[in-house]
Amino acid sequence: MARNSRFPGFYKISVDERRALVCDATGADPKEIERALDGGGIDADTADKFVENVLGTYALPYGVALNVRVDGHDHVVPMVVEEPSVVAAASNAAKMVRLGGGFTSDVDPPHMISQIQLIDVPDVPRAIDAIEARAPEILSRADEAIPGLVARGGGARGIEVRALGDAKTDRMMVVHIIIDCRDAMGANLVNTVAEACAVRLAEIANAKVGLRILTNLCDKRLVRVKCRVPGEALATEDMDGDEVIDGIVNASRFAELDPYRAATHNKGVMNGIDAVVLATGNDWRAVEAGAHAYAARSGQYSPLSIWRRDGKDLVGTLELPLALGTVGGTLRVHPAARLSLRMLNVENAGQLAAIAAAIGLANNLAAVRALATDGIQRGHMAQHARSVALAAGAEGDLVQRVAHMIVEARDITVDAAKRALAVLVGSSDNASAIDD
Ligand code: MEV
Repeated sequence: MARNSRFPGFYKISVDERRALVCDATGADPKEIERALDGGGIDADTADKFVENVLGTYALPYGVALNVRVDGHDHVVPMVVEEPSVVAAASNAAKMVRLGGGFTSDVDPPHMISQIQLIDVPDVPRAIDAIEARAPEILSRADEAIPGLVARGGGARGIEVRALGDAKTDRMMVVHIIIDCRDAMGANLVNTVAEACAVRLAEIANAKVGLRILTNLCDKRLVRVKCRVPGEALATEDMDGDEVIDGIVNASRFAELDPYRAATHNKGVMNGIDAVVLATGNDWRAVEAGAHAYAARSGQYSPLSIWRRDGKDLVGTLELPLALGTVGGTLRVHPAARLSLRMLNVENAGQLAAIAAAIGLANNLAAVRALATDGIQRGHMAQHARSVALAAGAEGDLVQRVAHMIVEARDITVDAAKRALAVLVGSSDNASAIDD
């Protein structure tokens, strides 16, 4: 957590000033920020130890979402993302949510599922009974394979057995071993268990071993976040809070009724979640796979978040599986991932999941509010206009003023920005100097 996550005008100050503020609020060390972020954090030699056939590294922007309050604690939340507006949108939405008390979370224990497929099963119902009867033996075999995790308080927690397809023609079944992974994401632990138990399970079932791997549909490791936003916090220049709430509830219903919209709605949620997952050195492909499989669990692909009116407030809820770790994993040796975890100062992986989900709900709120009011392009244009103003040579306060002028003039080009800048600095001499 951070002492504070509210820094008005943060976007206007220099990178060095931002680093100083964040260090002060989170206890991060300025030297650590330098080491972790200048040059992207790792060199080609280090990258060569991570993956194969390395030629170099590929840096992405590292920003922080502000105003974030989860379960009563403030957080400065690191986000790694290339898309303009995502960090600003998360911060703006988090500011609105703050007015309603912030996000609250409810996180399942860190239970992952190890899958062992059994094939050529001669008598599937008999094999199911036989494996269930030997569950204690299988659970101790699983624990023996992961002594370090057991010593940290985790380990095997249960077994589930299912027939797959037609017992006579497919002759297939799957055994799930549930593993409490504590603060690890758990992929390696869960795969180790699958491989350690498979042969014995096949013996009991009188079958052959098939695949042995975790499932990314980790639906026993769900996180739920909720927020309440007072209507007046959502109002725009043209719409009052009540109208905006109606618009957002309509947007939610659209996603609930139409998978085409649900996919884009969920993309907005994942904009935030992926950025935190990446900043903390976690496996975003695993998170994406789990999120979309969960969104399709009813048979119709559906939104992960829902928005409803409650009196004069808007209430949003988000639920998804989120397998994040704060220990282990290749990427967490990355200095930027370590910096992110230090800045967040979370006590366990569940807290990290709650924060990532809160950012997902914040980004979703920002997107549906923009779509239900001014449309998404206006905000994107404002952001683009700031980049154009910078390219035209504007500095400090002038960036925002030039951006505003070229948006109003509906001419977001470097030439228009140079003209606006010349007007603002007040002389044609300046204008020609800038043209040079
Ligand atoms: C763009 O990155 C995300 C949005 O398309 C999400 C949405 O439509 O809800 C704006």
